[in-house]
Amino acid sequence: MPMDNNIPLRSDAGPDPAIKRLTEEEFVKFSRLIYEESGIYLKDTKITLLSNRLRKRLVALNIPEFSDYYKYLNELPHREKVIEYERMLDVVSTNETYFFRNERHFEAMVHECLPEIAKVKKEKKLRIWSAACSTGEEPYTIAICVRENMHLFSDWEIEILATDIAQSVLEYAHIGEYSGRRIEKVPPEILKKYFTEKKNEPGVYLIREDVKKLVHFYYHNFFKSQFPKDIDIIFCRNVMIYFDKKHQVELVSKFYQSILDHGYLFIGHSETLHSISEDFSYKKILEAPVYVPNPRR
Ligand SMILES: C[S@@+](CC[C@H](N)C(=O)[O-])C[C@H]1O[C@@H](n2cnc3c(N)ncnc32)[C@H](O)[C@@H]1O
Repeated sequence: MPMDNNIPLRSDAGPDPAIKRLTEEEFVKFSRLIYEESGIYLKDTKITLLSNRLRKRLVALNIPEFSDYYKYLNELPHREKVIEYERMLDVVSTNETYFFRNERHFEAMVHECLPEIAKVKKEKKLRIWSAACSTGEEPYTIAICVRENMHLFSDWEIEILATDIAQSVLEYAHIGEYSGRRIEKVPPEILKKYFTEKKNEPGVYLIREDVKKLVHFYYHNFFKSQFPKDIDIIFCRNVMIYFDKKHQVELVSKFYQSILDHGYLFIGHSETLHSISEDFSYKKILEAPVYVPNPRR
């Protein structure tokens, strides 16, 4: 995926074309491992993509062939294996995102979800989770929307959790520096209010501290890590498409345990809970597809 920011994050050109493409047999081994560790399901057609992404680990470790890397992974002691699996998943994951992506979701959140939560919730604590947050544009968009509606939450504690399986995107998010396509959809008045343009770098913007401090970034793997509790709103957009049905079912049932009764779940436009979960009901709010938890049995 070509990146339009100054901080290079991903290039699928592959760093060293001298390392040959994965053989079909190697592809099966690696894709099975990736599936077991992350739920990411790679079709056979992804062989070039996976070769290009994995090459980065081979180059970093100075390993000449994929078969050697596979052997190396298997022979690592437990602690080192966990670390290298994380690094492998980091290069394999797809991290496309930008500010105000699917803006209808944010309109629905601002005009209905936030006022409703402010009205019904007794404990003055707002907890929103951007699950699979990538480079931070989604949780920062949420934080901007909350900042714009602080009149609803003047004496509330506000926490926006932002998690991802890829460490490099979390580090990127932490810096909070954006440009180009990533900020194209930010309305000019919002850009002016919540970003600072870098001196000597026109077009490169830093997210402002008052937005930044609302967001807490953590490493989290949907299929290995513990889920947070008592969440008012979950955003889990454009990630379920990478999982098969078994993992989608598992993920959504965990979300049901995390979300409060009055909560809201936002998923991507090309995703659905139809035939995945009966724990949530579909609701259209201001043209945005939203899911709300069904009463607990
Ligand atoms: C395409 S991005 C979506 C970003 C953002 N939610 C959006 O819609 O713009 C998908 C993200 O899911 C993350 N991801 C993939 N598998 C995951 C897993 N098992 N647990 C947590 N995050 C995962 C990837 O690292 C990637 O950053």
